[in-house]
Amino acid sequence: MRVLRWMVVALGGVATLVLVAAAVAYGASEYLLRQTSPARAPAVALPTDAVSVAEGSRLFMVHGCAGCHGPAAEGNLLFDEPLIATIVAPNLTDSIARYGAGDIATAIRNGVSPRTGRTMLVMPSQAFAPLSDADLGKILAFVASLPRAPGMEGSVSVGPVGRLGLLAGQYKTSLQLVEQAVAPPEAPDAGASIGRYLARTSCAECHGADLGGASHPEGVAPNLRIVAGYQPEAFTRLMRTGIGMGDRKLGVMSGWARAYFSHFTDAEVQALYRYLHDLPEPVRR
Ligand code: HEC
Ligand code: HEC
Repeated sequence: MRVLRWMVVALGGVATLVLVAAAVAYGASEYLLRQTSPARAPAVALPTDAVSVAEGSRLFMVHGCAGCHGPAAEGNLLFDEPLIATIVAPNLTDSIARYGAGDIATAIRNGVSPRTGRTMLVMPSQAFAPLSDADLGKILAFVASLPRAPGMEGSVSVGPVGRLGLLAGQYKTSLQLVEQAVAPPEAPDAGASIGRYLARTSCAECHGADLGGASHPEGVAPNLRIVAGYQPEAFTRLMRTGIGMGDRKLGVMSGWARAYFSHFTDAEVQALYRYLHDLPEPVRR
């Protein structure tokens, strides 16, 4: 009997410990999710001429906005595994009408939600913080020109497994990614610096802010020093058709290149190649 009583006490103790640990983990993850940034991004001017709006629509592709928010910015359910997270990339035609260009530019640059004032998740602001005012203005002018689409309300919730991933540092909030971003190596000359800008703002979201490689939910995006092994024609082919060196089939990279990088101009592809082909080893923290 005595043994039994001890076992009950011990089990009760274990259950309490588990509950306390769960509460502490929940609290700690909630702390990360509630992080905010008081900084406002400087206002960007929205051009109104048709050429700039058309260029904004191209930039919306090149920088992959369409890949998550949908081609008409109508919003998109990206991920739905309640134990990990449910992530909707919101309807931007609705967001811009609701919050105005100033709050939207701040959201994109700082990684803070215009809805909640808290850090966003999955939205790769670390790659968009360095967008030039002119480019961001064109992208927003394009979004503002779209008919207000019926689409998905923004909604993001994180389940217990996702919260543990955040605590373990396996997933990072947009704010963490912005704050921890290490810039890629400087470009040796002006031509390559255009390539550096494009890489920072269109490759960094998957290959890491410093371009030194990062894990992606559907594969590991390698260090972009891998481009040293590419001939110019093979690199152009990768950007245009998604086919890797030596006719290799790629995963995420392939679909993304076909859908979005095919909108790069020839000059942009050359500038990217020029920078990435001689990319020095990034300085990792
Ligand atoms: C990898 C997917 C992904 C890409 C690429 C992406 N977004 Fe997002 N974006 C999201 C998600 C997810 C959210 C919602 C985040 C949250 O609320 O925690 C979001 C939120 C936003 C918001 C806030 C809207 C609101 O109403 O809450 C804006 C504005 C935005 N994105 C604009 C852009 C623009 C412009 C681009 C391209 C330059 C872009 N996004 C690229 C996934 C993405
Ligand atoms: C949406 C995520 C994503 C974006 C954005 C992205 N990549 Fe990738 N990339 C990957 C992944 C993941 C791989 C690994 C192969 C795979 O799974 O498709 C990869 C592989 C590569 C490779 C190696 C191909 C090989 O030969 O094995 C090169 C080169 C590359 N990317 C270049 C770029 C460049 C340049 C950009 C920007 C213009 C870019 N990527 C943007 C996800 C991305």
